[in-house]
Amino acid sequence: MRGDAAIEALAKESPGWADRLHRVNIDVTDPLSVTAAKDAVSTLCRARRCPLYGIVNNAGVGLASDDMEAVLDVNTLGVKRVCDAFIPLLPDSGRVVNVSSASGPVFVSQCTPQQQLFFQDSCATWNDIQRLLDDVQLHAGDAGYFRALGLGEPNPYGLSKACVNLYTLVLAREHPRLCINACTPGYIETDLTRPQAAQRGATPAELGMKAPQCGTVATLFLLMGAPSGSGHYYGSDAKRSPMDRYRAPGSPEFGSS
Ligand SMILES: NC(=O)c1ccc[n+]([C@@H]2O[C@H](COP(=O)([O-])OP(=O)(O)OC[C@H]3O[C@@H](n4cnc5c(N)ncnc54)[C@H](OP(=O)(O)O)[C@@H]3O)[C@@H](O)[C@H]2O)c1
Repeated sequence: MRGDAAIEALAKESPGWADRLHRVNIDVTDPLSVTAAKDAVSTLCRARRCPLYGIVNNAGVGLASDDMEAVLDVNTLGVKRVCDAFIPLLPDSGRVVNVSSASGPVFVSQCTPQQQLFFQDSCATWNDIQRLLDDVQLHAGDAGYFRALGLGEPNPYGLSKACVNLYTLVLAREHPRLCINACTPGYIETDLTRPQAAQRGATPAELGMKAPQCGTVATLFLLMGAPSGSGHYYGSDAKRSPMDRYRAPGSPEFGSS
């Protein structure tokens, strides 16, 4: 199993870490699995007499998928299930990092002005997001309906990440004692993106993909660094970025002027 192999590699690198590493299985689409994972983590925290430090919602699928239900189930509803289960374990100032994607802001930029406002609405609730997802799933496969809603061309992955960014805003408002943000890892060579290179007959590097370790900059900053606030979306350079349009890494930080 990949989790066990990762633990073995880390423990080999630094033997002192061995008793601090645990594999906990989780399928974010299965509420029972999420509860079992939460119980396992809760037990570990109690045994070690230390609270849970943070949550990283990294699971994601379907970059090029047109299976609306499957993509939303992991990328958006999965984040909600994990947050519902694990946030009660966090102490004051605990961290939540939702690994989203630049596909979210790009998706929003292609929506109507009214939908663009929706995806950045600081008064939105989870029920508003759920209503949109129910509506879209009810009409999955009907591109005309998707367009008529003002959501541009059907793009399950982009929609799922735009919803994660909005959910991050909702969560931060509901949990003011926590530090909750979203980010993109950047364009990184992984199992998710490698098929794109194969499909285009190019190497991952030729398409601009970076090595996996480059994809942790923003996540580590939001987990361990000092982000300026909560409920924000960050680019792969760990700089705050807008939720309604793409900001290239290295360009001025959103809200800086
Ligand atoms: N790579 C990029 O360029 C890029 C760009 C923007 C955003 N992202 C986002 O970054 C995150 C990580 O993606 P990645 O590129 O590292 O892709 P990846 O290599 O395919 O990793 C995806 C991870 O999600 C896990 N996962 C999938 N379905 C799950 C489920 N139902 N329950 C629990 N875990 C599940 C997978 O677990 P298993 O290994 O057990 O299947 C895997 O560890 C995703 O949220 C993705 O959308 C990636």
